[in-house]
Amino acid sequence: MISGPPAAGKGTQCARIVDRWGLVHISAGDLLRAEVGAGTPAGVQAKAFMDAGKLVPNEVVVGMVTSRLAAPDARERGWLLDGYPRSSEQADAVEGAGVRPDLFLLLDVPDDELVARVTGRRTDPVTSEIYHLTFKPPPADPAVLGRLVQRSDDTEDALRARLETHHANVAAVVGYYEDVLVRIDGSGSMDAVFGAVEEAVEGVAGGVAAAQEAAA
Ligand code: AP5
Repeated sequence: MISGPPAAGKGTQCARIVDRWGLVHISAGDLLRAEVGAGTPAGVQAKAFMDAGKLVPNEVVVGMVTSRLAAPDARERGWLLDGYPRSSEQADAVEGAGVRPDLFLLLDVPDDELVARVTGRRTDPVTSEIYHLTFKPPPADPAVLGRLVQRSDDTEDALRARLETHHANVAAVVGYYEDVLVRIDGSGSMDAVFGAVEEAVEGVAGGVAAAQEAAA
């Protein structure tokens, strides 16, 4: 599992983790944005909460994530849960489904740095690549530049609300995972952060492999 404040770099690190270890990336935010984009009733309900920087109600989110976790690819390849659980109710639902992470990564980034990260973010809807106008500029290809999108909740005001929601909930969620928690300084470069992520994942990978072998 990976957690952290809005725009801390969770999605950026998840892309690298998936490239390296082949896990199935399950992002609660991406699942919700797909529903919003498709105009489903769940998406219509979610959009107002997302734009206000508030947690989308559990009746929309919990079933969505729980069923994605149960899909065959996630069961076979292992999963990387991004931005979920975000409340004690969601953590209870995860526990109730018998799901435990081997590792809970918490990215720490000071609030002031997040403003620049969030306002400069642009995403390529075709490749899902996450860019930043300053820290990870998109390629000069006009086709790519022409299709980049900025999320509707990537404004400074929405960020403040999202941060408030994060700070109000993070301690409760972390409490469920103290035994597998690794805090990572997310304020360095993307490469430096990934170095710390690699160290944490490799630290648990040996133990997981040994446990699987013992259980086989
Ligand atoms: P979600 O999509 O999960 O948003 P978030 O948690 O606010 O996180 P972001 O996606 O904004 O940022 P990120 O940490 O992935 O950063 P990124 O790598 O893109 O959730 C959106 C909304 O959905 C929520 O507000 C809520 O309404 C709803 N929701 C989601 N989950 C929910 C749940 N469980 N329950 C209820 N509601 C839920 O990086 C950001 C930028 O910084 C990029 O431009 C990137 O290039 C740049 N960057 C990354 N790393 C670095 C670095 N090290 N140095 C410099 N720049 C960097």
